[in-house]
Amino acid sequence: MFDHLPVLPPDSILGLAAACRADANPNKVDLTIGIYMDETGLCPVFDAVKQAQRALIDEEVTKAYIPPQGDQAFVDGMTELVLGAERLAARKGVVAAIQTPGGCGAVRLGAEVLKASNSGGKVWISDPTWPVHIPLIGSVGLELTEYRYYDPLTHGVNFDAMVEDLKGAQKGDIVLFHGCCHNPSGADLNAEQWQVMAQMAAEQGFTPMVDLAYQGFGDGLEQDVHGLRALIDNTPEVVVAASCSKNMGLYRERTGLVIFICKDERAAEATASQAKSAARRIYSMPPAHGAIIAGRILSDPTLRSNWEAELSAMCGRINTLRADFRDRLQVATGRDFSFIANEKGMFSFLGLSKEQAQRVRTERGLYMLDSSRINVASLNNRNIDKVVEAVVSVL
Ligand SMILES: Cc1ncc(COP(=O)(O)O)c(C=O)c1O
Repeated sequence: MFDHLPVLPPDSILGLAAACRADANPNKVDLTIGIYMDETGLCPVFDAVKQAQRALIDEEVTKAYIPPQGDQAFVDGMTELVLGAERLAARKGVVAAIQTPGGCGAVRLGAEVLKASNSGGKVWISDPTWPVHIPLIGSVGLELTEYRYYDPLTHGVNFDAMVEDLKGAQKGDIVLFHGCCHNPSGADLNAEQWQVMAQMAAEQGFTPMVDLAYQGFGDGLEQDVHGLRALIDNTPEVVVAASCSKNMGLYRERTGLVIFICKDERAAEATASQAKSAARRIYSMPPAHGAIIAGRILSDPTLRSNWEAELSAMCGRINTLRADFRDRLQVATGRDFSFIANEKGMFSFLGLSKEQAQRVRTERGLYMLDSSRINVASLNNRNIDKVVEAVVSVL
């Protein structure tokens, strides 16, 4: 049965993280995987999560399945966090939301329902995008096509090229946006550019799908969804894939949500039923633990304000690290690295070639992706000089 199966290469990101773990170099630094690390190099558990978890353990009386649509407090709290109370009230009855195993599950269930809608359209993805989008969406049988997004020369969004490409997106097509903190580039659209995208969606009739894996990691919980809300205000249908992996640190609890904003109540009922049916085919019921914790945090005013303060401190630290890293690189090289401080979220392309990225790995034990994407949130006071030295050594 299995003897003819080929051994597949490891995942491009997880494989490098594993290679770094196995590296005996005492000076190794891992900037590969998208996980927030604190000053001690640990991915911390939020205090608000610890408190909610303690209460849950004391009160939990059953481990019976939760409903296929998920924990209601979580679904309601997250939908409001993403859409905002005002828009949610205005769209009452036409929003369907289903809890999923992480943001990956949300992207996949969204793609499953889009495929079931049989629009015959393609899914437009940014060049580059988070590589996992391709199997998550492609494996349901949707055709993918790229739009130009990041310009390595300016280290920013090539907005003119993006607009030019997306003029080809038609009714029935889906355009996948990163809601904030673009992965892998850190280059985000500004408010004006989001407005142009919303107008194009309205005029051309394509359906926006927004991957929202980093709400709160860019400029703040509200600011990070202004683009998404501009799309909602201008188009009748939007799909959102949200995740609590990063902004609540619930990575391993697989806590996410897919939201369908529909034209009418019947369509909302249909998308919910389709998403639940797709979930049943793939994994049946979502995991409970993370969602119940997140639901508690979102609905308890004290826990919520603690969580918001912790998240805002993380976001502030990432931005401080960005500025510090920019300064050190500029001093060491005399070159302009201002783009690092202008980008949002955890990621940045350093602008190294594949060969340079591989050299810093073998010669210095500095692990970044071949594209030179680094996770800025893995820098700390102990490793930042090593990273600067390694980068300078190949420039
Ligand atoms: C752009 C993007 N979307 C979605 C996800 C999915 O996150 P998860 O499934 O861990 O919630 C990630 C995780 O790294 C991501 O970077």
